Amino acid sequence: MVHSKFLLGFLSVFPIVAGKAIPDGAANRASEPPLQAPATYTAPTFTPHTRRYFYISGSYVTNSAGEHTYQDQHYVEHLSPVLTVPGPNNKHPPRRPYILLLHGAAQTGTNWLSTPDGRPGWADHFLSFQYPVLIPDAAHRGRSPYPPESKMVAYSAEMIEDRFTATNRKKLWPYTGLHTQWPGPGIMGDKVFDAYYRSTVPLEPNNTMQQTWMREGLVALVQKVVKEDPGAEVVVVGHSQAGSFGWLLADDKRVEGRIKGYVAIEPSGPPFQNEVFATDKARKWGLADIEIRWEPAGSDFNLMRVGKETREKTGCWMQDPSKGVVKQLVGLRDTPMMVVTSESGYHRVYDYCTVNFLKQAGVKKVEFAELWKRGVRGGGHMMMMEKNSYDVWKVIEKWIREL
Ligand SMILES: *[C@@H]1O[C@H](CO)[C@@H](O)[C@H](O)[C@H]1NC(C)=O
Repeated sequence: MVHSKFLLGFLSVFPIVAGKAIPDGAANRASEPPLQAPATYTAPTFTPHTRRYFYISGSYVTNSAGEHTYQDQHYVEHLSPVLTVPGPNNKHPPRRPYILLLHGAAQTGTNWLSTPDGRPGWADHFLSFQYPVLIPDAAHRGRSPYPPESKMVAYSAEMIEDRFTATNRKKLWPYTGLHTQWPGPGIMGDKVFDAYYRSTVPLEPNNTMQQTWMREGLVALVQKVVKEDPGAEVVVVGHSQAGSFGWLLADDKRVEGRIKGYVAIEPSGPPFQNEVFATDKARKWGLADIEIRWEPAGSDFNLMRVGKETREKTGCWMQDPSKGVVKQLVGLRDTPMMVVTSESGYHRVYDYCTVNFLKQAGVKKVEFAELWKRGVRGGGHMMMMEKNSYDVWKVIEKWIREL
């Protein structure tokens, strides 16, 4: 009894306990409250966890002096929940999938750790529900080193203001007037903006190269996790530029059966052509610039432009069924996916194209979470650090839990 009192005390300090109620548990101990509460959302807190880091992937290369350096490796943080208390009958809560959090362009894994105004980040929220969390820095980014000869680019503060944090000053797309969730005015000199902007880093501008490193690194990461923990499954949560990285990982035969689901948050898109800030060709494999498994194989498509071109909604490139076969995403069609889009961000103009493209290409389960239709209002592209970041996370966690 001393033991169970200790557990109850512990739970009242950290009341967020993951998992469905263990059947019959409460009935067996009718005089005591169940130890294993159903998962409920309470006020977000920083969550006790353990941490390790490691580097994966990459290789030795010879430098101009004939000596070796190491290149293309990825830094990864692995956070584990500590609240794995046994429930009634000494059973442990249900096993959770690993959550692989992939940041976007010019960002690092810090995106997920806490918000620029000092609140807990999505990593904490996932840990509070007992999910183990994996947070890489993209190759050639942040703590993943880049060679000295790299031609990196940096996003200016003005670009971040205009696209992410103070979008209603330049109004580069419709919907910017709906942006209410960035903490503070979102401009240089504001302490939250400065805290965020200081966390952005230079990046490699060549998407072909970046995606190639990412596919190798993320496959190696999932393989390492599975080797250490043979039953492991991974749910990918990818933001923005990482949209392509997540699709490339889930598509890869080497991790077949391990990617339980994919949450693509305002993912790189739409297929084949950029929109809003530029209209150049991009992503010649539809979802990425490098090879994705299509059936029939290859990056040749019979495309047609569908829909009216307006500022509110672009037209979309779709496969033209009248020209014969509609190609299928053979490596991705069984992976459940959710595309998450904010009310005021620039992705609202075109993310629906990505969703329709996935469905046409045979992906069986694609959910389109238009956040404003689910009561999560006023968000922008950097939704994991905005004022309602916890509400956005709840939409995502609920989908993951029901996979
Ligand atoms: C990007 O990298 C790929 C692969 O190394 C290369 O073939 C391509 O020319 C590069 N693109 C640009 C614009 O530099």
